[in-house]
Amino acid sequence: MKKYFIRTFGCQMNVNDSQKMAGILKSLGYEPARDWREADVILVNTCSVREKPDQKVLSALGEYKKIKRENPNAIIGVCGCLAQRAGYEILQKAPFIDMVFGTTNIHHLPQLLEEAQKGNKAVEIIEEIDENETELDKYPTVRENKYTAYVTVIRGCDKKCTYCIVPTTRGKERSRRIGDIIREVQWLVEDGVKEIHLIGQNVTAYGKDFGDVKFWELLYAVANVDGVERIRFTTGHPRDLDEDTIKAMADIPQVCEYLHLPIQAGSDRILEAMDRGYTQKEYLKKIELLKKYIPDIALSTDIIVGFPGETYEDYLETVKVVKEVEYDQIFAFKYSPRPGTPAAHMKLTEDYQKAGQWLSDLINIQKEIAFKKNLSYEGKTVEVLVEEEKDGKLVGRTRTNKLVHLEGEHNLLGSIVNAKITKANRFSLEGEAIKETV
Ligand code: 5AD
Ligand code: SF4
Repeated sequence: MKKYFIRTFGCQMNVNDSQKMAGILKSLGYEPARDWREADVILVNTCSVREKPDQKVLSALGEYKKIKRENPNAIIGVCGCLAQRAGYEILQKAPFIDMVFGTTNIHHLPQLLEEAQKGNKAVEIIEEIDENETELDKYPTVRENKYTAYVTVIRGCDKKCTYCIVPTTRGKERSRRIGDIIREVQWLVEDGVKEIHLIGQNVTAYGKDFGDVKFWELLYAVANVDGVERIRFTTGHPRDLDEDTIKAMADIPQVCEYLHLPIQAGSDRILEAMDRGYTQKEYLKKIELLKKYIPDIALSTDIIVGFPGETYEDYLETVKVVKEVEYDQIFAFKYSPRPGTPAAHMKLTEDYQKAGQWLSDLINIQKEIAFKKNLSYEGKTVEVLVEEEKDGKLVGRTRTNKLVHLEGEHNLLGSIVNAKITKANRFSLEGEAIKETV
């Protein structure tokens, strides 16, 4: 049997695309390889959100060059956001690559593969969005995790955040038809999935392009599918997160008490330069509403440090918000200019060198907050979806998205159990399964 190996960089959308590509390859008779050395097809699904992932991809490609020497019949393909943005450049730098394709024509993988197997370069990078891109949705996903699954609900992004490459690499917003989403959720549940994770660059904009359905209505529709035990969604935009959605989150029992709500910066001046469409006060108001309707909600956010023009005083506004909100987790990055974005033409902040230090200070502040939050779980009993077994322990997540290592019986895999938390670590919890709840 022929084997494939897929390496994935980047966000949940890329992870889901890779799972779909694995589904396509499975339907073509391929099975997964243990590592790239034994693969007949290697796919590198790339990210371009910052410069670092760009560089990581290029160095990974250098590694894969070896496989061409050892196994000249192996097909190497590059896809995803960097391929969409700079596919031809990649081909020039790494001429041993056989296939390059963009983010909206992944469903052409079978034809591209056939072309590459004939010894031709199979390249398909189109600027406009492939009108048949939803063909991809018809393939089943191949997932590592049996009990949780991503479901794409919207592709692309219409926001014009000045630092962001995503509108270039993934195009404008396109919501999926609600019937198609529900059908996919039904298949997944039949396949044993308990937790549905709705994804998109901006899920809270769901339905805006149709005009007749809202994101909160989608939440109710997913919750109505028999067998859906948990619902999560990523990523919401603070501007589109309305009270109706927050009310639905509070009202629907399956929607987990967790939300990732990127703030990016605390200073109004910087938020405006980023074109985020809200002020610090407006953002905090949404957080207040979330905490009002869902008192035990866990929150996480994305932050950029060192945006053009950001001063130490601006940065301190971000620190203030982080301390005030008390996020469970933050994902903080040093600003990285991206080609073709409006911010790439802005002068780097005079303090750009210092931003590295600001970033590590911010991460240290957050570490203490997160640890304090984890400590508050000690002695509590919480619901855990047991997702896998590792080194003799059960591993799962709380509704608030905390990783838990559990003592318990193997037969609890895939069920939601009550667990008593016995110990809090910095990045995870430990506990004992008490009894099955569902
Ligand atoms: N520089 C640094 N971080 C960025 N992000 C997006 N673009 C950039 C950039 N040019 C971060 C944002 C986003 C996350 C996925 O990556 O915080 O929410
Ligand atoms: Fe990376 Fe953005 Fe593409 Fe996701 S959408 S893979 S974060 S560039």
